[in-house]
Amino acid sequence: PEAQVRTGALSGRHVIVTSGPTHEPIDPVRYIANRSSGAQGTAIAAALRDMGARVSFVTGPAEIAPPEGVEVIRVQTARQMRDAVEAALPADAAVMAAAVADWRIRNSSAKKMKKDGSGKAPVLEMTENPDILAWISRADERRPRLVVGFAAETNDVLAHATDKRLRKGCDWIVANDVSEGTGIMGGSENAVTVITDDGAEEWPRMAKDAVARRLAQKIAGAIA
Ligand code: CTP
Ligand code: CA
Repeated sequence: PEAQVRTGALSGRHVIVTSGPTHEPIDPVRYIANRSSGAQGTAIAAALRDMGARVSFVTGPAEIAPPEGVEVIRVQTARQMRDAVEAALPADAAVMAAAVADWRIRNSSAKKMKKDGSGKAPVLEMTENPDILAWISRADERRPRLVVGFAAETNDVLAHATDKRLRKGCDWIVANDVSEGTGIMGGSENAVTVITDDGAEEWPRMAKDAVARRLAQKIAGAIA
């Protein structure tokens, strides 16, 4: 078996990790959501834990189980995720790996929507969700020393991710190409480019666990 990294470089440090999709209700039995297995966020939380960090793991309804040995805060919606992240502050670092729904349904219904027999489909109105990454990046004295965002793109990955980093105000962006054919979405591997103040670092394609360990090492270099 693989030797565990147990340097303890992050002991005494608190890191918030968001992971998984959010679910935005249409009515009590229906929702809209992003595609996200939660695999990369879960691996990152486990890697940070292995380096001794205290981890607050704020997760939407993901396919895979959360890691052991971290504080798990389960949420459904983007607004709940934002509130849970706020409640988990202060933190030394925040890693926003969740696939947050950009919009929620404005006219969601407290009761199950029923067909009325007319053959007419309901019209769903959407409204924008809070941007948790942008908000925490500008949280003034409550801002974690290091804020890491993700950018899953299908085209012009580097350009979109570089722009996203500046727009959101985070320190690093972990960018990846999730276009069809890469097999990254839902797969066990990831190929990322980490964008920092110093430029773009392209990491080779490797297992999501390995990306997580390397990212945790890099985080330790920044906040340990
Ligand atoms: N994010 C967030 N809250 C949101 C939307 C996104 O915290 N409401 C975070 C994600 O967790 C990720 C980063 O922002 O770390 C980038 O998400 P992404 O969907 O790529 O960016 P958006 O700004 O939503 O842009 P796009 O229009 O490309 O979806
Ligand atoms: Ca988005």
